[in-house]
Amino acid sequence: MPDSPKTIRRGDYAPPAFLIDTVDLDFALDPMATIVRSRLAFRRNPAAAADAPLRLDGEGLTLLEARLDGEALPESRRQLGADGSLTITDAPDAGILETSVRIAPERNTALSGLYTSGGNFYTQCEAEGFRRITFFPDRPDVMSRYSVTITADRARVPVLLSNGNPDGSGDAGEGRHWARWVDPHPKPSYLFALVAGDLVNVPDSFTTRSGRKVALNIWVRRGDETRCGHAMDSLIRSMKWDEEVFGLEYDLDVFNIAAVSDFNMGAMENKGLNVFNTKYVLASPETATDGDWQGIETVIAHEYFHNWTGNRVTCRDWFQLSLKEGLTVFRDQEFTADQGSRAVKRIRDVRGLRAAQFPEDAGPMAHPVRPDSYIEIDNFYTPTVYQKGAEVVRLLHTRIGPVAFRRGMDLYISRNDNQAVTIEDFVGAMQDASGTDLTPFMRWYDQAGTPELTVEDSYDPATRRYTLTLRQRTPPTPGQVEKQPLPIPVAMGLLDDTGAALPTRLAGENAAQPGTRVLLLDGAVQDFVFEDVPAPPVPSLLRGFSAPVRLKGVPQERLRFLAVHDSDPFVRWDSGQQYAAAFMLEQVARVQRGEAPGFAPALADAVANTLASADADPAFAAEALVLPGEGFLADQMEVADPEAIHQVRRHLRRQIGTHCGAALLATYQALTETGPYRIDGRSIGRRSLRNACLAYLAAAGEDGVALAAAQYRAATNMTDQLAALALLADAETPAREAGLAEFHAKWRGDDLVLDKWFSIQAMSSRPGTIAAVRALYAHPDFDLKNPNRARALIGAFASGNPLHFHDSSGEGYRFLADAVIALDPINGQTAARLIGPLGLWRRQWVERGALMRRELQRVLDTPNLSKGSFEKASKALQ
Ligand code: PHE
Ligand code: ZN
Repeated sequence: MPDSPKTIRRGDYAPPAFLIDTVDLDFALDPMATIVRSRLAFRRNPAAAADAPLRLDGEGLTLLEARLDGEALPESRRQLGADGSLTITDAPDAGILETSVRIAPERNTALSGLYTSGGNFYTQCEAEGFRRITFFPDRPDVMSRYSVTITADRARVPVLLSNGNPDGSGDAGEGRHWARWVDPHPKPSYLFALVAGDLVNVPDSFTTRSGRKVALNIWVRRGDETRCGHAMDSLIRSMKWDEEVFGLEYDLDVFNIAAVSDFNMGAMENKGLNVFNTKYVLASPETATDGDWQGIETVIAHEYFHNWTGNRVTCRDWFQLSLKEGLTVFRDQEFTADQGSRAVKRIRDVRGLRAAQFPEDAGPMAHPVRPDSYIEIDNFYTPTVYQKGAEVVRLLHTRIGPVAFRRGMDLYISRNDNQAVTIEDFVGAMQDASGTDLTPFMRWYDQAGTPELTVEDSYDPATRRYTLTLRQRTPPTPGQVEKQPLPIPVAMGLLDDTGAALPTRLAGENAAQPGTRVLLLDGAVQDFVFEDVPAPPVPSLLRGFSAPVRLKGVPQERLRFLAVHDSDPFVRWDSGQQYAAAFMLEQVARVQRGEAPGFAPALADAVANTLASADADPAFAAEALVLPGEGFLADQMEVADPEAIHQVRRHLRRQIGTHCGAALLATYQALTETGPYRIDGRSIGRRSLRNACLAYLAAAGEDGVALAAAQYRAATNMTDQLAALALLADAETPAREAGLAEFHAKWRGDDLVLDKWFSIQAMSSRPGTIAAVRALYAHPDFDLKNPNRARALIGAFASGNPLHFHDSSGEGYRFLADAVIALDPINGQTAARLIGPLGLWRRQWVERGALMRRELQRVLDTPNLSKGSFEKASKALQ
């Protein structure tokens, strides 16, 4: 490690010394020697100290020339810092700075800045990649108007794209050509983009509600044109939805999307030129699963929605990241909910939150939605900033209601358009639009940890009063020991003993209210007294998951009752899950005592009931059928026991598969597709229900495995094919090797499908999986440099295979650390992101914890470790 990397603190924010009004960039593209000339019109920021120097960030740039107001800058007036920055001494209060630098995109394996992939050029600037392209004050509160000229070899690089609208193109002589782009909207440098290469476009268009025609293009490699239909359709639906629901219209003449197979994240919202991981663009029934299909719709919508929440109104500094990310995730969640089943969408989002964000909030990297400090900002693109951030926006929405929320959005955008602002500006707009004091809600942004909500109640037949006592407590997190109570909106209702909804009247209210109401718990403990309650009711709490908390201590018989009777589909689903989880944890305890796990007939009854009514909503039924995952169960335990958890879950799956075999098989057969493949919500729901049945049948024994093998052979779409192959990959059957070999031979030319082949094997529960994963790491098709492939093997193993990752030999940990150490010098950002699972050592037995720590230490001791991996490993060890 170089000298201890610097911690950046939120409290140290200071406005930029200089502002840049316009940026003119000129790229002469070449894989090994691209020349970037820049012309910046700078002026001193009246809001900053008057004597601060003009300092420009830079990283790995070879400076060829610098001119100030037309004159060459003598070396004595320009300093190159050890961090790569450029400082100009005695800069005038306003002027023109021109620089010329050389960079080598072909050597850029970090995929940040300007890099090549498959011979084409792409940029990635968020968060701090622009400084790897040219010298610039690379921070989001410096917003400028950009014009960009690109020159390149015409034959090899026929397509030249950047942000904004096209503004001319032509011949540049000697086989080269040029194109110019002008973006009329001021933007921070992290939204700059350039894409150039041998690409083909799928065109379409969209007419905005005010009648402007926008040209839409998706740019892909030749041959991929046939797989863009769903992405384009999702884009058009997103554009329409944002107009209808938020009144927000697109603001340029063109909207370009470029897909690239080497990408660190999912996608990027660069103004007018989104860059996407191919995983979130390309889909055909033969190659993409229903999950992929849904992922594309979500990510396309998300990036499009950033045009207003992120681009037109941007972040003042990176601590405000959730200002754009939490809000934009909330918007994409609402979009998807409006496209299909709101209940199923909510269930999936909560499942995801609990699988990733809850453990993060309970581990060494726990941080508030608005962090207080960071070493490497790339490490803070987290489930907390994104998913919990979206939950906090949802909570405000619940608190003030949809009408005031929409007014608040209008106000937020009109007040802050073309500015770089803070989370206070967002909450302030919601407060002013609703007339509700929202200051207590700021605590949700600044306090880490998942609150625990517990319930007690009592009923007094004499007064017909029912008292609900709600209590909250947030466990300590690193650096934040003392916790304050949070304002928690609890959407709820009361049920009578037949399961019918009771109207509710709180003490002091004049009339009873029907349906769901929202209680606001804002102290550590609070009583809510209901009047005129005829008999002891059953409370249904946290309907729609109205706050990101852990609801604890609801008795098993109430969970069973709610799972059947509640009017709220989320509570029905969740009560079933909590019921099953509590039972499974009891069995884990039995296994730990050396006893055999038992079986609850109630679970089989629940499965039978779900199957009997599945036809009404197959997607919901599929969600209800799936038992709580191993990670979810581990997260409920003080000290996890991955082997016992796996054993119990496997045992129950087999038991259910056996007890309900006939019904499962009948449902499976009834759902066999006959017509053509379709991807509407109902068809997706039917496939997921069918595959959920198949999974139980395969768990029950050979007949089920044979059924999976038959489905694998007969499948005409990737969803069914992959679901079957995943079951085979877990089984001891000759069909396993045959299936995997056949799949590889068939798909070895398709990156995205081959990723699935790696992942399925990495997540197998079979003995010998660690050795198999090591062998796959050495496979000729494995490529550590490609983030999708690295995640497909290493990430899938470490996060998706708790059984083998936590093997008591420590071999799983060793594999992960070896991979991180190998990847770090190539791509520190992706390496750092893989470290997470090693950080949860406190939640494992001491022996395992020690093995995990040893591997973290080995990572930390690696010479020249990246800042990001240093931060992850050192925080994990604390
Ligand atoms: N801003 C992107 C998104 O949320 C994510 C991203 C971050 C992509 C950093 C690349 C680099 O959509
Ligand atoms: Zn985003």
